[in-house]
Amino acid sequence: MTIDLAALPRDFLWGTATSAYQIEGAVAEDGRSPSIWDTFSHTPGRIAGDDHGDVACDHYHRWREDIALMRRLEVNAYRMSIAWPRVVPGGDGPVNPKGLDFYDRLIDGLLESGITPSVTLYHWDLPQILQDRGGWPERETAEHFAAYASAVAERLGDRVTYWATLNEPLCSAWIGHLEGRMAPGVTDLTAAVRASYHLLLGHGLAVQAIRAAAPRAKIGIVNNLSTVHAATDRPEDVAAARRMDGHINRWWLDPVHGRGFPADMREVYGVELPEKYEDLATIAAPLDWLGLNYYFPATVTDDPDGPAPHARSVRRDGVQRTGMDWEIDPGGIETLLLRLTDEYGARRLYVTENGSAYPDVVRPDGTVDDPERQAYLARHLAACTSAARQGAPLAGYFAWSLLDNFEWAYGYDKRFGLVHVDYRTQTRTIKGAGRRYAEIVRRQREGMARAD
Ligand code: IFM
Repeated sequence: MTIDLAALPRDFLWGTATSAYQIEGAVAEDGRSPSIWDTFSHTPGRIAGDDHGDVACDHYHRWREDIALMRRLEVNAYRMSIAWPRVVPGGDGPVNPKGLDFYDRLIDGLLESGITPSVTLYHWDLPQILQDRGGWPERETAEHFAAYASAVAERLGDRVTYWATLNEPLCSAWIGHLEGRMAPGVTDLTAAVRASYHLLLGHGLAVQAIRAAAPRAKIGIVNNLSTVHAATDRPEDVAAARRMDGHINRWWLDPVHGRGFPADMREVYGVELPEKYEDLATIAAPLDWLGLNYYFPATVTDDPDGPAPHARSVRRDGVQRTGMDWEIDPGGIETLLLRLTDEYGARRLYVTENGSAYPDVVRPDGTVDDPERQAYLARHLAACTSAARQGAPLAGYFAWSLLDNFEWAYGYDKRFGLVHVDYRTQTRTIKGAGRRYAEIVRRQREGMARAD
């Protein structure tokens, strides 16, 4: 396994990624209003250990220190998200200047450090006030999202080139509205399908809004995709794998690529879409890049009595897993990068997230050794460069995550960071994987052909 650095373009973006609610804290500061994740995480029993993001990594106050850490990691890019409830606390209507001021300072700080920001507008923190009015199942949420996107792009568009509209809309729609394991915690297929539709409509409207406010913007969408395998070659399992592929991958990719919502999945869901004339054209607004978040593959079996898509993931024995109990399969990232290239004609791709959680500890000598995470990182980077060698137009890789942070329903127990965070003292410690990543980045910058 070798990382074929020579397969990458010289101006490759090497980054780390985070999201607002997972790291910022300061939930009631400078006019921020509650988001659905504040509500969800303060609902007893929803989050492991009843953790919440009230303080998280205190990044709102420690962002300078965190930029200094990025410099030590030698990265030249940073993927971050903006908190809608900081910028438009009422969900729609007046913009909160103090909310935008925070991101303004952060962006300037990044640029002064030679780090290119890549800004995601929605990483799941819908203002609660909009949820109270129906949330993503309602069309007006998509329209308010575009207005918020416009306000952010107007303020930051002179300095930010890379914009993503949504992060992992699958999680917002399917996990938030069908499975109920994420905010807003709804379990209703109709609500979930309507939410999926309005998320993608919001994406398309936001693309228009960003282009109008920041004509030089390079805009994309970030999806978490998986390779899907049938558990057996029984026709029922093969069909189940096809449905799961529709649920996880095609439902999110096809409409954005002008193919409409997959007919087979419309039948599986059996829910009428709230379609209006021209929505599909809006959703299919041309993009400059696609973002791939990749963590694990799925192996599925037919589950006729289970919820849509009537396919259930099965646990494979004898395979390596991360601390999330997620199967490790670096080949999946290569397959997906090539699929986006061949099947969807992607002209520019970023791996916008990839990483692993393990139960790290700070040793008495003050270091954090994480050989499993280092191996995960190196093996996935090798697979990425293999895809690039075969023609995938890969232009950047963002390791998830810069810092250990609030891992949603799992709370703070699951540590994905290249940097360890002691939540009691807010002490940051670069882990072994962080040092390894810096070494790989350095080698590519110096023109070396390979890294291990
Ligand atoms: O922490 C999350 C992130 O917010 C979205 N993608 C997956 C990560 C790990 O679960």
